[in-house]
Amino acid sequence: MDNKVVLSVRDLARHYDVSKGLFKSKATVKALNGISFDLSAGKTLAIVGESGSGKSTLARQLTLIEEPSRGQLFLDGEQVNYRDKVQIKALRQKVQMVFQNPYGSLNPRRKIGDQLAEPLIINTSLNVQERKQKIDEMMQIVGLRPEHYYRYPHMFSGGQRQRIAIARAMILNPKIVIADEPTSALDVSIQAQVLNLFMDLQEQLKTAYVFISHNLAVVEHMADDVLVMYLGKAVEISKKSVLYVKPLHPYTRALLSATPTIHPEKRYQKIMIKGELPSPINPPSGCAFHKRCPHAIERCHQEEPVLREVDGRQVACHLAEDFV
Ligand SMILES: Nc1ncnc2c1ncn2[C@@H]1O[C@H](COP(=O)(O)OP(=O)(O)OP(=O)(O)O)[C@@H](O)[C@H]1O
Ligand code: SF4
Ligand SMILES: [Mg+2]
Repeated sequence: MDNKVVLSVRDLARHYDVSKGLFKSKATVKALNGISFDLSAGKTLAIVGESGSGKSTLARQLTLIEEPSRGQLFLDGEQVNYRDKVQIKALRQKVQMVFQNPYGSLNPRRKIGDQLAEPLIINTSLNVQERKQKIDEMMQIVGLRPEHYYRYPHMFSGGQRQRIAIARAMILNPKIVIADEPTSALDVSIQAQVLNLFMDLQEQLKTAYVFISHNLAVVEHMADDVLVMYLGKAVEISKKSVLYVKPLHPYTRALLSATPTIHPEKRYQKIMIKGELPSPINPPSGCAFHKRCPHAIERCHQEEPVLREVDGRQVACHLAEDFV
């Protein structure tokens, strides 16, 4: 098994300056606030967390769409240097993105074949026949028929459009694909087919995935490892197999408790969280989860827990040992 790390982030942060209130005073949204993790070749790291926790902000940093405010990003062993345009262009081929809404990422006025040809024209020296052959191959792999080459995006169903978007992301055989809620806009009946396509492609092409999802049942199906995000930070990073049997962070337990179909037989203590995600403009002191956590003690109000090794995974909770 290839354990080479293909994606590595260290203390990655992205802050946005915004104006707020009647007097338009300046404020900073700490959308992503210091995340570190590694992803190995051919593996899937799932990112979970409620709406507003910073998942898409992380995705935009990983795909080099934005420049982080702080921290380091390593892609395929190279540290990203945001001043080096030549390097950025080369690295962009190695990391591709699949979005939630495939319609938004396809050009409505161009035939599918032409859209699939685009990355090959820009990034390879293949001639017309070689490109056509590569596109036909890719279309077949993702379950599209040869005649689809000449059709426009509106002539396809949502599921087929996502297959096209996946084909376009995969056609240059990238080392890494970042998928941000790639099936949540699709009918439930076809979500499983698209997820299985992702898994088949990973098997064939050994692509590493960062797979962002709200749906913990989907994550259980897809992931090797899971990173649980809360207010721009990682609160638990673990092998999936360990996490689903025994989540340690109270927030992870709350997320899993809210997914009743998962392992009803498992006997970890259920937690229901109250209230909403606090604002990333004014995060709470101490543990960012303390206002919603049923276990919070005085220390949690004052001191921020750091991510540390507990029971075979990383957890950011002062009381993690008590939950083992
Ligand atoms: N360009 C921006 N300017 C200002 N604030 C932003 C910007 N982009 C994101 N944010 C804020 O950063 C936080 C994280 O947003 P993000 O979209 O990354 O969350 P998410 O986890 O992807 O949520 P969802 O599950 O709803 O997609 C939110 O509070 C959001 O309002
Ligand atoms: S550090 Fe305290 S508030 Fe935060 S999750 Fe742990 S027990 Fe709850
Ligand atoms: Mg998002």
